[in-house]
Amino acid sequence: MRALVTGASRGIGAALLTEGRERGHEMIGTTRTGEPPHLDVADPEAQARLAAETRTLDLLVCNAGVFVDKEKTLETLTADDLNATFETNVTGVFLTVQAQLRNLAAGTRIAIIASQMGLQEIATGDSFAYRASKAAAINLGRTLAEALRGREVAVGIYHPGWVQTDMGGATAAVTVGASARGLWDRFEALDMERTGRFETYDGRPHPF
Ligand SMILES: NC(=O)c1ccc[n+]([C@@H]2O[C@H](COP(=O)([O-])OP(=O)(O)OC[C@H]3O[C@@H](n4cnc5c(N)ncnc54)[C@H](OP(=O)(O)O)[C@@H]3O)[C@@H](O)[C@H]2O)c1
Repeated sequence: MRALVTGASRGIGAALLTEGRERGHEMIGTTRTGEPPHLDVADPEAQARLAAETRTLDLLVCNAGVFVDKEKTLETLTADDLNATFETNVTGVFLTVQAQLRNLAAGTRIAIIASQMGLQEIATGDSFAYRASKAAAINLGRTLAEALRGREVAVGIYHPGWVQTDMGGATAAVTVGASARGLWDRFEALDMERTGRFETYDGRPHPF
């Protein structure tokens, strides 16, 4: 497969590149300031430039994400925190898919890295911005699955696990390698029958 992964400078995105290459896939990983191609997912012009340079894709992985309100509370969360979160985690996902429409063909798969923190049934009274953004990312995935059904583009929505990255922290339960291997198993199995589903990295169906 020819696959493009956003946010591939570190963490899960970097591990997805490594695992994809090991499986023999042709990998394009975007970074903001590291190895080209460069992409800030919230920048429509950068999205358009990258899409113009990219040929038809078999897989598009919307992985780039931020968790800016880890330490914030109901009292301290600001409008800037909310906007910065939504800019990357929601607008960024939408713009990535919209810009790459020209490079999608029947059979192309789209993977959205959401989080179980976006589930309505897991409400713990914290991380307002991150949770709301991931709920929106799950919802975007559902809507995209329907919008792209006629083009035979399948959209999968995934929880990568609680993963040992800068975002997940060193005490997280899952290594980046295990998360990337599980996610790749899901990407390789994604088809029109599975479009619109929300699954964990290790293949368990998630409720919405
Ligand atoms: N780790 C977990 O436990 C966990 C759990 C559930 C879901 N997730 C989701 O999994 C995805 C990857 O998380 P991670 O743990 O690998 O996080 P991470 O280690 O913090 O890495 C985040 C990646 O996203 C990139 N990024 C952030 N904002 C961007 C933007 N505006 N444009 C382009 N790239 C941007 C970062 O680039 P820079 O290096 O330039 O900052 C970096 O490559 C995220 O969507 C996250 O919400 C993670």
